[in-house]
Amino acid sequence: MGDRPYILLSCSMSLDGYLDSASEGRLLLSNEADFDRVDEVRSQCDAILVGAATVRNDNPALLVRSEQRRQRRIDEGRPVTPAKVTLTSGGDLSRRARFFTTGDGERFVYAPTLTAERLEPRLGAVATVVDRGDRVRMCEVAEDLHARGIRRLMVEGGGKVHTQFLTEGLVDELHLVVAPFFVGDSRARRFVSDGRFPWGADRRATLVEARPIGDVVLMRYALSGRFEDEPTSG
Ligand SMILES: NC(=O)c1ccc[n+]([C@@H]2O[C@H](COP(=O)([O-])OP(=O)(O)OC[C@H]3O[C@@H](n4cnc5c(N)ncnc54)[C@H](OP(=O)(O)O)[C@@H]3O)[C@@H](O)[C@H]2O)c1
Repeated sequence: MGDRPYILLSCSMSLDGYLDSASEGRLLLSNEADFDRVDEVRSQCDAILVGAATVRNDNPALLVRSEQRRQRRIDEGRPVTPAKVTLTSGGDLSRRARFFTTGDGERFVYAPTLTAERLEPRLGAVATVVDRGDRVRMCEVAEDLHARGIRRLMVEGGGKVHTQFLTEGLVDELHLVVAPFFVGDSRARRFVSDGRFPWGADRRATLVEARPIGDVVLMRYALSGRFEDEPTSG
């Protein structure tokens, strides 16, 4: 395998392990203090990756919100906000989504050939459409992003994307926030779906921190030898 960025997977879930509710629109699992912590983590990354279903359902802007953090990035000679990355096989992505309309950083859409050919005329003006051949594989996305200068990648959902990055053993650091309520509806999306994960009862992941943040708790895990123990509080 070629070089890949340092990969940090960040997500918040309910007490029963759900990422959202079964209804449309975004479910707020975290609190303001934790959103601010996530903003700091984002500000330290070169790119943020989400699945196309998250773009469609949550319509996230994926920007660094704090003016001070934006200024710090400028002072460091970096783009004001990280690049944005998504993946699709069906190609159902609107160019009016905030993923494409907000911020001035680079945007990448990874897709298999037939979808990439369809998307290029529609999204080519607002994003780099990357043709990944017969199938989009997370290890190849990571290698391609590294070749484009991305050294620190933040993966921010949803469940299908988490599952692929985790089962392929690509994640160096996991930030898991648990919100103090239940969703209680199995139609909602879980943190991950079924899969063969490198960490099981006989190979436990390394917990490096558990921190209450108001009414939620953050758990940080080192998932690879590349784990970098950097401060993540704002
Ligand atoms: N709590 C949190 O921290 C958090 C964070 C993010 C998202 N969420 C929630 O998670 C939910 C979405 O999760 P999800 O699991 O349904 O979807 P997802 O992981 O966001 O996106 C899945 C979609 O990404 C594309 N994709 C994924 N892997 C691909 C591959 N290998 N090749 C090509 N395309 C690929 C496909 O898009 P196409 O369908 O276009 O082919 C697929 O349907 C949303 O409702 C959102 O609210 C929660």
